[in-house]
Amino acid sequence: MAVRVIATTPFNDQKPGTSGLRKKVPVFRQPHYLENFVQAIFDVIAAPPGSALALGGDGRFYNREAIQVILKMAAANGFGRVLVGQGGILSTPAASHVIRKYGLFGGLVLSASHNPGGPEGDFGIKYNIGNGGPAPEKVTEAVFARSKDLAEYRILEAADVSLDQIGETRLGDMLVQVIDPVADYADLMESLFDFGAVRELLKTGFRMRFDAMHAVTGPYAREIFEGRLGAPAGTVVNGIPLPDFGGGHPDPNLTYAHDLVAEMFGPDAPDFGAASDGDGDRNMILGKRFFVNPSDSLALIAANATLAPGYAGGLAGIARSMPTSAAADRVARKLGIPCFETPTGWKFFGNLMDAGQVTVCGEESFGTSSSHVREKDGLWAVLFWLNIVAKRRQPVEDIVRAHWAEYGRNFYSRHDYEALPTEAANGLMQHLKDSFPSLPGKTFGRYSVKVCDDFAYTDPIDGSVSRNQGLRVLFEDGSRIVFRLSGTGTEGATLRVYLESYEPNPSQHGLDAQAALGELIAIAGLLSGLKARTGREAPTVIT
Ligand code: G1P
Ligand code: ZN
Repeated sequence: MAVRVIATTPFNDQKPGTSGLRKKVPVFRQPHYLENFVQAIFDVIAAPPGSALALGGDGRFYNREAIQVILKMAAANGFGRVLVGQGGILSTPAASHVIRKYGLFGGLVLSASHNPGGPEGDFGIKYNIGNGGPAPEKVTEAVFARSKDLAEYRILEAADVSLDQIGETRLGDMLVQVIDPVADYADLMESLFDFGAVRELLKTGFRMRFDAMHAVTGPYAREIFEGRLGAPAGTVVNGIPLPDFGGGHPDPNLTYAHDLVAEMFGPDAPDFGAASDGDGDRNMILGKRFFVNPSDSLALIAANATLAPGYAGGLAGIARSMPTSAAADRVARKLGIPCFETPTGWKFFGNLMDAGQVTVCGEESFGTSSSHVREKDGLWAVLFWLNIVAKRRQPVEDIVRAHWAEYGRNFYSRHDYEALPTEAANGLMQHLKDSFPSLPGKTFGRYSVKVCDDFAYTDPIDGSVSRNQGLRVLFEDGSRIVFRLSGTGTEGATLRVYLESYEPNPSQHGLDAQAALGELIAIAGLLSGLKARTGREAPTVIT
């Protein structure tokens, strides 16, 4: 088997975003496109000869083809071993766990997360480092720089490797190990949570539904819920991963997980509902006719953490992304532990967890996890909730309401305006920035502006600075509006408007979030000139 060195010319758009490089499938299928990016990664990480990698993806269209290319390139670039999930499948948290458990040099995760798949859909690739987490910015920036001056890539001339049987194959000098993608992960979950208590709960007639959205968590959820926890067959719906996710948008929120939402708010609703996204790192938690806001979910998990055996010793600290509500901060204060505020994206949590400063982390974007891996973890959050319900023996809604009564409620919502013309979105952000010096001290209805800034973060562990992480309008009473452009979209620009207000008074906690935030929503429109600048009357998605 010969190593071929292929001459290539750089693409100028291989800049990794919030979570790896995401592009439409036809972009990735251009000759040399995938190869160039993978070579740029291999050049930057400079793994010692014989190093081992994890490789797998969410099963979306182009997953298998990309895996074959990457295997042959890994062999030609001196890797000694690659662990691939059977069928090319590895959820993002499972990949993170495999890297950590087997002490691998790193891993490549093929996914565009919650973005739709199929021949015209999205594809993505992300490099994770040896701690199991997404590569930090200095690595992704170096990869981008390398991609711009790449002249050749290396690939082994060889037949495709079968991915469907567990076992080992040689590819040149490299060993390909096809592994069970589920077993290690399911064992990890069983070590963290009280499976016995959840099993008992399920025997009492407690009914749950898990919607895998035809994405990667299907096999994991079947093994864990229907296998190890004894939930009845059919508890997991849409459990077979499909290359196009059955035509759906595998994003677990009130808009895209509509079938689950309809069932959970319907006449014969189960007690508990949950869903995960394309690559298994997001989660949505629902009680009977009740939606748990992801920011609240983080706070509740933190407040109840010691109910789960894996967290019985308490938490070292909590971290949340800046746009995530401050509900978790209140819990941290009560527990007497630190709460860190990081930029959007999981990569910022890695250093804090590696340094032992943080145990649980979360983002408002339906992402929650802990230091058991270095990614967010959808099924972990679902199991944590089941563990809490099994121990407290209360409905989800009652648990959340009791939390609000104790800590106050952080009303929270995110309004997304998707596929905006890039110029309009950039213009809106610039306009806001320009207006910032004049806003402090001004009053809008019952809100007075205290401070406006462009969020910047200095990593407390390595001192690296990340700027331009979102425009914040902070009000005197702790309420805030944050404007941010998405770093994961593949079509035009997506504007995210994050809205938060704090309500200590329990008699107001029953309000609908959109109603409670109505005045802030209007102020956001006024400050940004949103309607005039984008022509949009309403958000594309409200979460
Ligand atoms: C979005 C979310 C962010 C999350 C990322 C990857 O990024 O907002 O919290 O980490 O997806 O799942 P964005 O599109 O906002 O850059
Ligand atoms: Zn995801």
